[in-house]
Amino acid sequence: MYQKQYEQITDALVNDGYVVITDALEKKLPSALLNEAKNEQDFKRAGISGLGDLHLDSNRRRDKIHWLSRSADAQASFLDFASGLQEYLNKELYLGLSYYESHFAIYDKGAFYEKHLDSFKNSKNRVVTTVYYLNEDWTDNDGGELVVYDEDDNFLAKVKPDANTLIVFMSEKFPHEVLPAKRKRYSIAGWFRIDKV
Ligand code: OGA
Ligand code: MN
Repeated sequence: MYQKQYEQITDALVNDGYVVITDALEKKLPSALLNEAKNEQDFKRAGISGLGDLHLDSNRRRDKIHWLSRSADAQASFLDFASGLQEYLNKELYLGLSYYESHFAIYDKGAFYEKHLDSFKNSKNRVVTTVYYLNEDWTDNDGGELVVYDEDDNFLAKVKPDANTLIVFMSEKFPHEVLPAKRKRYSIAGWFRIDKV
């Protein structure tokens, strides 16, 4: 179903290491996912898992998260997209991806996530990152952009967290940050890993 997207993502990962796709998935998927996120009561403060222990650090990130599961329809559709991508990347690039984990994230007004890498030096298990956005009618004044840098910290891209925009990048190579959001912001961050948690 997403063959074209799989090809585009694979080519871009080889050539540039990252890709931003607007109108990425089925048109109805972002609003269905947004409804499921809004119906979910159990969002928890996100932590930073650096050197083993998970710890909360409000100075570095202020989002709330809820892990996706197949028990809701839209989440199952999104996870189907991800497992198709995993299979394709393994077949074409021999990445040996074994597992995909993903969570909804809510950034309340004023929330942000400081510049970071998704894969830590001591645990190279997150290989490919995906971020998918669910926000309808996001304007330039709403802030909350994802800013992506290269390995030398040069600016690469500023991504508006608009519904149905998808970014995929190599987890170890691209520092990125979420600028303070001026209204409530919904995303799904996900990682293909080479181990099982
Ligand atoms: C993350 C992350 C970006 C976003 O959760 O690691 O970088 O735009 N999220 O939500
Ligand atoms: Mn990140």
